[in-house]
Amino acid sequence: MADLRWAILGTGRIAAGVLPRLSRSTGNIVVAVASRDRVRAQELCDRASASADCAPVALEYEEIAGRAGIDAVYVTLPNSLHAEWSLRLLESGKHVLCEKPLCATRAEAERLATAARKAGRLCVEGFMYMHHPQTARLVELARGGSPIGAVRLIRSNRNVCNRDPYILSSRLNHSLRGGALMDIGCYPLSLALLVMGGAPEWSSLRASAELGRWVGGPSGGCIEKENGERVWIGERGGVRADFLSESAEGLVDESCSFSFSFPSGTRFEGECSFTKGAADGASVFFEMIGERGRAYTTHPFSPDPDRQVLLVESDGKSTEEVFERGGDKFVNQFERFARAARGEVAALPSMDWSLIEAEAIERIHSAVGVRW
Ligand SMILES: NC(=O)c1ccc[n+]([C@@H]2O[C@H](COP(=O)([O-])OP(=O)(O)OC[C@H]3O[C@@H](n4cnc5c(N)ncnc54)[C@H](OP(=O)(O)O)[C@@H]3O)[C@@H](O)[C@H]2O)c1
Repeated sequence: MADLRWAILGTGRIAAGVLPRLSRSTGNIVVAVASRDRVRAQELCDRASASADCAPVALEYEEIAGRAGIDAVYVTLPNSLHAEWSLRLLESGKHVLCEKPLCATRAEAERLATAARKAGRLCVEGFMYMHHPQTARLVELARGGSPIGAVRLIRSNRNVCNRDPYILSSRLNHSLRGGALMDIGCYPLSLALLVMGGAPEWSSLRASAELGRWVGGPSGGCIEKENGERVWIGERGGVRADFLSESAEGLVDESCSFSFSFPSGTRFEGECSFTKGAADGASVFFEMIGERGRAYTTHPFSPDPDRQVLLVESDGKSTEEVFERGGDKFVNQFERFARAARGEVAALPSMDWSLIEAEAIERIHSAVGVRW
C-alpha cells in the first residue's frame, strides 16, 4: 500500500518538533512544508532532509490546496486559522489532521463535518495523547463492569505556570484565539468527554475565569489582568515601550474553571491556568472516582512512551497498571490516521466527538465572557 503523502502547514514549534515523527511513522511520508514565507519553509525542509528520512519541497500556503501529489495536510497554524484552513483543504480533496482545538464554535465544526462528508475525506482533531494505551484504558475504566465501578466524579487540571514570553505572546493573544481553555484546558475537557463518550447536559455547565492579555512581545512582557494587575515575565527593563503599545486589545482567559454533569449523573470538574501551578513546572492530573474505587494519573496528556504508570484503586486495594513501550503519542497518532485514511480503522477522535468538544468550548467561553 502506498504511503500517505503529507504536507505540513506552518513552520512553528509544533511543526518543527513533530515533522521527524511524522516522517518516521509507518504508512506516511512528508512531501511538502508550507509557510507564509517560502524561505522559512525551505529552512524546515533542509532540516528535515538532513535529519529525517524525507525530502519535502517548500511551498506557500495557497499552493497546497490545488497541488497534486498531496493526500493529507497537517495544520499547525494558530487556533484562529484552524477552521478556515481545514475547510479549504477539505474542499480541495485533502485529508486534514488539525492541531487542537479544531474549532471554537459548534457552527464551525458543523461546516467542517459537512465538507469532510461531501469530499469523502478525514477531518481529525490532533489530540495526540488519545493515541497512548493509557488513554484507551481510562476509557475502558469509565465503562460498565470496570473495577472502579460506575464513575461519579471526574476531576482534571492542566495548570502550567508558563514563563515563556514566546508562548504567552501568542497564547494570550485574542486575535489568534488564544486563552488557557483553547491552549491547555481543552486537554482535561477533551479527556472527560472522551471517557464519557457523549454530550453533557449543557444546562448543568458552570464556569468562571480570570481574564487577561499579553502586553509585550515574543521576547518579554507581562500578563495584564482584567483589574490592571501586571505579572511580569522576564526582565521588566527589557520590554520596549513600542511592544506595549502594539499589544492585542481583546481579553482571553488566563485561568479558567469549568464543570458540568453527564446524563448518568457523573460530574466533571476541570481547571486550566497559565499562572497557577508550581512556578517551575506544571500541575496536571486526571482522576476518575467511581462507586468502588478510582483511577489517577499525573501524566494523562504526556504519557511516558516507555513506561507509564496508572494508579487504580478497587475495593480498597491499590494497583499500579504499567504500560510498557506504549510508544510515542505523535507517531501513534499519525499511524492511526494513515490506517483510518485507508478505511482500516475509525478515526480518533471522530468528527462527531469534535462537534461536542467545539460546543463545550463555545459554551464555556460564552459563560466566562470570552468573545471572538
Ligand atoms: N499537540 C500538541 O502537543 C501541541 C503542542 C503545541 C502546540 N499545539 C497546537 O499547535 C498550534 C501551533 O502551535 P505552535 O506552538 O506550533 O505555534 P507557533 O510556534 O506560533 O507556530 C505557528 C505557526 O503558524 C504560522 N502562522 C500563520 N499565521 C500566523 C500568525 N498570524 N501568527 C503567528 N503564526 C502564524 C507560522 O508559520 P509560518 O510563518 O511559517 O507560516 C507559525 O510558525 C496551536 O493550535 C497549538 O494549540 C499542539
